[in-house]
Amino acid sequence: MSTIILGIESSCDDTSAAVIKDGYLLSNVVASQAVHESYGGVVPELASRAHQQNIVPVVHEALKRAGVTKEELSAVAFTRGPGLMGSLLVGVSFAKGLARSLDIPMIDVNHLVGHVLAHFIKTEGEENKQPKLPFLCLLVSGGNSQIILVKSHSEMEILGQTIDDAAGEAIDKCSKVMGLGYPGGPIIDKMARQGNPEAYTFNKPHIPGFNYSFSGLKTSFLYSLKDWLKEDPDFIEKHKNDLAASLEKTVVDILMDKLRKVAKEYKINEVAVAGGVSANTGLRNAFLDHAKRYGWNVYIPKFSYTTDNAAMIAMSGYLKYLDKDFATIDLPAYSRVSL
Ligand code: KG4
Repeated sequence: MSTIILGIESSCDDTSAAVIKDGYLLSNVVASQAVHESYGGVVPELASRAHQQNIVPVVHEALKRAGVTKEELSAVAFTRGPGLMGSLLVGVSFAKGLARSLDIPMIDVNHLVGHVLAHFIKTEGEENKQPKLPFLCLLVSGGNSQIILVKSHSEMEILGQTIDDAAGEAIDKCSKVMGLGYPGGPIIDKMARQGNPEAYTFNKPHIPGFNYSFSGLKTSFLYSLKDWLKEDPDFIEKHKNDLAASLEKTVVDILMDKLRKVAKEYKINEVAVAGGVSANTGLRNAFLDHAKRYGWNVYIPKFSYTTDNAAMIAMSGYLKYLDKDFATIDLPAYSRVSL
């Protein structure tokens, strides 16, 4: 008999539902919330209200596209955290209610684990290259920068992580200083393609071990800009592409230097990347370059799995289902939770 999992993701500002059947993705519907754009960031109260409006139509659409009825579901998986509490509660409550009404198991998924396990999603008719265990996963997003040793689907160890800002956060803050929109990551990426990455140098941290730090880069970027603007008030406008390219290169170098160190120390050449920043062109190119230079087998997610999506939640739920690792009705949402 087939195992069919409905996944629900509502940790931030995307309402998403997806259906996975025996490890193969049947549908992945994402409703983004344009309401936050004019505020320059996600407004938690508005996010949770939009989730309330979106959740029923999004789930309905995911089931429809998958050609599956709710009665055929084996379990409902949901993001338990980390994320915005008001947003999480919409998905968690909906998932629990649906699972209860259908009398099927409910499965809690850690959003960060979801990003890592997205590498195991299979799609009909595609190559479906998957990392071999154990592998390293660089998880880089607006809230996290971690190097994770993935020993199995359920056993992961953080080998290094940021001690202050996350990589995405640093990029977003620097882009804000440049007067660009939010989130800055995709804008910086686009501009960087037209710029010279060697044009400027910014401070890189000197932290022993495998941890990261990005707050110094943010400060170095800010003070350098201030100096340049004193000389020329149009500096940003004239040099924005070079600034973006140099900033991106610095972030990518910092990320890859530590990742290389870990790969060498642990003698692992299966290396994956995940999270919002894994959409970055410079970082993707650095992975491909490391594959050639160091013989790494690299795993770069599809763009649709780099942003928040329920496909990764359904996949994680599927793997937990096989282990019969179910949640209970009283399990709360967690705004802060590690791996
Ligand atoms: O994982 P994610 O979607 O959300 C959370 O952090 O929860 O990651 C969002 C981060 C933001 O900082 C955004 O600017 C960054 O990912 N990002 C990018 C790109 N696309 C998204 N950063 C650099 N280049 C991109 N193409």
